[in-house]
Amino acid sequence: MLKFNANRMPMSDRIETLRDYTNDYHKSVVSPEKFWSEIAENFDWRKKWDQVLSWDFETPKISWFENAELNLTENIFERLLPTHENKTAIIWEPNDPKKNPIHLTYGELFKATCKFANAMKSQGVNKGDRVIIYMPMVPEAAVAMLACARVGAVHSVVFAGFSSSALADRINDCQAKMILTSDGNFRGNKNIQVKAVVDEALNNTEFVEKVIVLKRTGEAVEMIPGRDLWWDEALEGQSEDHLAEVMSAEDLLFILYTSGSTGKPKGVVHTTAGYMVYTYYSFLNVFQYDADDVYWCTADIGWITGHSYIVYGPLLAGATTLMFEGVPTYPHPGRFWEIVEKYKVNQFYTAPTAIRALQVHGTEPVEKFDLSSLKVIGSVGEPINEEAWHWYHEHVGKGNCPLVDTWWQTETGGIMISPLAGITPNKPAHASLPLPGVQPVIVDSEGNELEGNNVEGNLCIKYPWPSMIRTTYGDHQRCKDTYFSTYKGMYFTGDGVKRDHDGFLRILGRVDDVINVSGHRMGTAEVENAINEHSNVIESAVVGYPHEIKGQGIYAFAICDSLDKSAEVLEDEIKQLVRKIIGPIAKPEHVQIVSGLPKTRSGKIMRRILRKVASRDLSNLGDISTLLNPEVVDDIIKGAGLD
Ligand code: WTA
Repeated sequence: MLKFNANRMPMSDRIETLRDYTNDYHKSVVSPEKFWSEIAENFDWRKKWDQVLSWDFETPKISWFENAELNLTENIFERLLPTHENKTAIIWEPNDPKKNPIHLTYGELFKATCKFANAMKSQGVNKGDRVIIYMPMVPEAAVAMLACARVGAVHSVVFAGFSSSALADRINDCQAKMILTSDGNFRGNKNIQVKAVVDEALNNTEFVEKVIVLKRTGEAVEMIPGRDLWWDEALEGQSEDHLAEVMSAEDLLFILYTSGSTGKPKGVVHTTAGYMVYTYYSFLNVFQYDADDVYWCTADIGWITGHSYIVYGPLLAGATTLMFEGVPTYPHPGRFWEIVEKYKVNQFYTAPTAIRALQVHGTEPVEKFDLSSLKVIGSVGEPINEEAWHWYHEHVGKGNCPLVDTWWQTETGGIMISPLAGITPNKPAHASLPLPGVQPVIVDSEGNELEGNNVEGNLCIKYPWPSMIRTTYGDHQRCKDTYFSTYKGMYFTGDGVKRDHDGFLRILGRVDDVINVSGHRMGTAEVENAINEHSNVIESAVVGYPHEIKGQGIYAFAICDSLDKSAEVLEDEIKQLVRKIIGPIAKPEHVQIVSGLPKTRSGKIMRRILRKVASRDLSNLGDISTLLNPEVVDDIIKGAGLD
């Protein structure tokens, strides 16, 4: 049996002063194991660990809290219920402001989780099985994640904007046994047919045995007998008690697919104990959550931000977390601020792309609402430009809310570099300082560590932290090659970084072939593969370019064989094809049909030149005389209308 300690407050790990931060940071570097084991003591363990950490970055093999046993959901529910039973865990605000919101207490969320865990078990899901969650932003999506964790199933949430073929790839890669989905999805003024996408994906997969469908929009959908059942049917007669599965510390908690610089998306694997400890700790400290606060992160649960900072981190800290189904501009561009006022939101966490999109509407929609409840505002997903930083700070934060610019990745599981709200200093557009337990280093292209201030290079992390990636699902070599081989003995992030004269870190963006579109990662190779599916395309190259709202836009160059279609027709077909194969977020902003692509003598595409053209900036084009085919550069420049 578990021991309950009703008097224990989960706030004891909060850093309260700059001095605490300095001390804790120092301690976390000098004795990391002691540091993390003290944080871990807050949790309920079925069995304690034999060893806090064992690791090598060569294999790589990382193990935190080795041989400990626990269930993450017992640390949200059984651990917190004595003090939190009637506290609101989730506030859900629907897409349509005229419809009713939902408030779920910790007690109610526990019952819903147990009931759905029982339903999943009845449908044949067991410990270790993979379950895909392809759902809108509704409380049931969070319940689904927690129910998976309760029964020990490994969830893989797929953003419900991905296409059927992207979904099928993910189902096949993790060999998912079950899909949790909905009939449709309300987003802004759109009603998206979700179940139809699942049906199409399932034509190309063979692993899925059951599909549980939540009724959300009331769309007519096809239900295949024996395979598909309604959410309510699955819940019928199920008990509200469920004894949690006992998991090992390093058992898989979830897989989340993300784009990399090569080929198909990788399934980033996170495990149970380390992820639990780190998301809890980072949530509490970055946002400085107080017991009665209402916290809101606007991400979708399809991304890591939704996992760590809508669901797991806040719930492990006993917070009230707000989930919003809709989009920032529907039915009006003040929708975010209306919600802040309605629920008196205290911490608000969003992406720079949303800020820039709202900035376009001016300050009137912000000023219409009372934002005085806000104590902390946050940013995530991409570098925040100074203009957006100041607008956000001044008009949303009214100049007196700390702005936490949080740098992290799907692979890091939690926030790595960020101000701690009101504790460490704010500097516009700077993620600033590492959290305790995080040891960032800047290296040059040879892997030499660049010490001191005023240096710029590639961002690596030289010591393990609890929520770090363990492997890429089904392909450990890929994990090693992608993250641990570029610089020996270090985790390579793929980002460039600068340490300024004050010692603050500023993230400069990706240094690999990953484009960050509206805070979403897209691999250029992935988009190219989709373009190459077009029957007229011979070869393509995709690059990113600065985009006012999206941060980066996708620009594609394609060599085509067809002379009977106009360039316009081809360009449009290519855009639609990418949309169909990957999803709307990957659709190129521009497609340019070209006669050739600039190549080096060894046959490598010179992306630098293409980036210049896409950015409409031909200064410093560099030496093109060494190209195999310098003549195409003029053609490309002309084709882009830059001559
Ligand atoms: C970028 C999102 C600058 C970065 C949590 C990283 C950022 C990638 C920031 C990970 C930030 C994220 N400042 N860049 N505050 N946060 N990034 O996996 O390039 O979707 O490598 O995780 O987003 O994106 P991912």
